[in-house]
Amino acid sequence: MIRPALFAVAAALGLAACGQTDRTPEASQNSPPRPALTAEQKAALLAALPAPYNAADLENGRRVFARCRSCHTITEGGPNMTGPNLYGVFGRQAGGHPDYNYSVAVKQAGFAWDGERLDHWLENPRTFLKGTKMSFAGIPDATDRRDVIAFLKVETGYTPPPQP
Ligand code: HEC
Repeated sequence: MIRPALFAVAAALGLAACGQTDRTPEASQNSPPRPALTAEQKAALLAALPAPYNAADLENGRRVFARCRSCHTITEGGPNMTGPNLYGVFGRQAGGHPDYNYSVAVKQAGFAWDGERLDHWLENPRTFLKGTKMSFAGIPDATDRRDVIAFLKVETGYTPPPQP
């Protein structure tokens, strides 16, 4: 079940990268954004996520993300608003968007975002990183957090690590 899903993801991402193999870090700033994933590619990516995210409800995740939209964009190259653009946030250092002016608390967090850290952050940003300027009360419901994290993984260019 998991294996074919991973192949489908690899194939999807391979297709998406087609013709861009000569990308350098500098060039990637100006190259066109990756094509949006099809519904089928999103389903394959969801199935390839580690538990519990592979069991998430992406539609509920999209609804929960409505609470973030007033402050965050998630598209590749999208603008920073009150909060930073979240494309590519998984695996990126906290406070790592080059053009956003973070609080000291986030800049000095000293970790890269993963599902678990995001789960703590979204449960209560103010206690997870004291001094943050993200004024958001938090998402008390664990299922809503799971779903919005899976939604973000699927929508922000996350690629699952290769199988051991
Ligand atoms: C009222 C505006 C606001 C809302 C609503 C909001 N955020 Fe934020 N968010 C911010 C701000 C401001 C920061 C920067 C925090 C800092 O520098 O202390 C931030 C930072 C973040 C970061 C860290 C990004 C990085 O590059 O390190 C993540 C992840 C994040 N928000 C996710 C979310 C999610 C998911 C939601 C919805 C469930 C949400 N935020 C709702 C304003 C908001």
